[in-house]
Amino acid sequence: MVCGIIGITANEDSLAKPLGGLIKEALKRLEYRGYDSVGFAVITRGGVLEVRKSKGMIDAVAQRLGFDSFTGSTGIGHTRWATHGGPDDRNAHPHTDCGGRVAVVHNGIIENHRELKELLVAQGHEIRSETDTEVVPHLIELFKARGYSPYDAFKKTVEALRGAYAIVAIDVDEPNRLFFARNTSPLVIGIGAQGRFIASDVVAFINYARKVIVLRDGEAGYVTLNDLLVEEMTRDGDTITWRPVDVSSRLRTVEWSPEMATKEGYSHFMIKEIHEQPYALASTLAAARESVESLARLLAKSERVLLLGAGTSYHAALTSALLLRKYAGLWAEALISSESSWYLKTLRSGDVVIGVSQSGETIDTLKGIKEARVRGALTAAVTNVIESTIAREVDLTAYIRAGPEIGVAATKTFTSQVALLSYLAVRTGELRGVLKQSNTSPVYKALEEIPGVASAIISSVERHASWLADAMCTKSSAYYLGRGLGLPIAMEGALKLKEIAYVHAEAYPAGESKHGPIALVEEGFPVLFVVVGSDDEDLIKSNMEEMRARGARIIVVSPKNAEEISSLADFQFEMPVLHEIASVITYVIPLQILAYYTAVRKGLDPDRPRNLAKTVTVF
Ligand code: AGP
Repeated sequence: MVCGIIGITANEDSLAKPLGGLIKEALKRLEYRGYDSVGFAVITRGGVLEVRKSKGMIDAVAQRLGFDSFTGSTGIGHTRWATHGGPDDRNAHPHTDCGGRVAVVHNGIIENHRELKELLVAQGHEIRSETDTEVVPHLIELFKARGYSPYDAFKKTVEALRGAYAIVAIDVDEPNRLFFARNTSPLVIGIGAQGRFIASDVVAFINYARKVIVLRDGEAGYVTLNDLLVEEMTRDGDTITWRPVDVSSRLRTVEWSPEMATKEGYSHFMIKEIHEQPYALASTLAAARESVESLARLLAKSERVLLLGAGTSYHAALTSALLLRKYAGLWAEALISSESSWYLKTLRSGDVVIGVSQSGETIDTLKGIKEARVRGALTAAVTNVIESTIAREVDLTAYIRAGPEIGVAATKTFTSQVALLSYLAVRTGELRGVLKQSNTSPVYKALEEIPGVASAIISSVERHASWLADAMCTKSSAYYLGRGLGLPIAMEGALKLKEIAYVHAEAYPAGESKHGPIALVEEGFPVLFVVVGSDDEDLIKSNMEEMRARGARIIVVSPKNAEEISSLADFQFEMPVLHEIASVITYVIPLQILAYYTAVRKGLDPDRPRNLAKTVTVF
């Protein structure tokens, strides 16, 4: 399950708004993590546990259930993306015990929930939902009934759980404490002037707390207004040990400003983040040398590198594999994370495995990285989130600096990933002696110019916004074709159109399209070509001719001086003429904007595509 969770404990009198309103605000910021149902629980001044929850999206539910009117000093909230149990009121979080004294929110999957449910039912507990989560409050209740204190009962419960979880619980018998536990799913504590927070992501509370501690797997504890206890659980067979952890050295200040997590006047986060690309690229590239240096030095001594990624991050990994081959002369291969274990079986000692992940939490990528470690590979991560799970799992991390990305569809993080990975390829080539200074200088110069180029492309493509919106909204299918470096960009463009505009878009190597896919092409069928660099220009022209002869409507993203290409197209996104590395970073931008306006014209919400969540922590 990918969900957003929040816990707040505060001095009620010092709060800027009622606790229910603060929880709503936090959930709104976590909405990208799931949005099929929403709920909260607060402990009132009179020591009563109030729970409100419902199917539906935050604004509507919060208004209907009157979130803003609930006061109190301790509360939790949850926004859900359903896995176990459909998206209905009953399965919405928080879940409570039979006595209505404990409330729990959870992100993850409790694998042994069936056996725990059987045990609880046998003990007379009434389970009311289909979720895996509901076992947690009942277990706490069970242990309390056996004489454990609320905190010890919470720890006993955690000991009984198997699987992935971030849990926050409140208990009217300890009304000022937020109990928490983490294994695999992210959880971060925020310490602010008005109170203390615990959430799936710092964006939830960034307006109120910028001092944070990222929790680690196996940790549990509680936080009050004046107190914080973190303990680490270790299992050795059947023996479980808890050891207090000194987290003071892990306290850090978040640099992101609160404004970075708001729409700032844009209609959607997606278009805001598309427009932020020049800044994201500038920040990423300004720190690129420092960020990639250790990894480049490692690759310089290596024979083979495998890059793992899912979705958009896989596309970034693909560009990286091509660039490492071309610019660093290195054997490099990109793998889809969820398929990687088939390939990792033949890892050799000294191989390097790089996990590419915006969130640093994608479980398929994490699993691949863990497997690579076990098989003796050196591991690295390219991610946007400091201290994310994958970042902590690997030997080396190179960070992109794209800032928080809220839109479910990755945009600025993709171009930032490709920019950083391009830098890595060139720097590795330099260190391996494959590239001489005369080859690297023009590339570094091109990279310096990227933020300005991205800005110019955004402005020029936005001028066609209305044409863009009309172009695809009546189509049910499209092909996105490319060769070489153009192919991962075509794949990324197709993914964007699919995920937010619900148009079936299929990416193919342009040369492969004649081996089957072309059978679908008839009058007006949209075929988009991405042409990056001039290596394959003649071959692409043949593929365009083939499609044209069958009546395809051809749209091309290509350099503006590629006149013959342009003459074969019905519409050309005229791109600046750039070094191919600069093109591979920026030529996706028109495809992002095309997908965005198609979704908007179809009346869809690009920030909340159906069935999707930003961070996928299920297999
Ligand atoms: C991108 O638009 C998608 N939402 C999705 O494919 C995403 O890229 C994928 O789930 C991987 O996420 P990560 O980069 O956080 O690992």
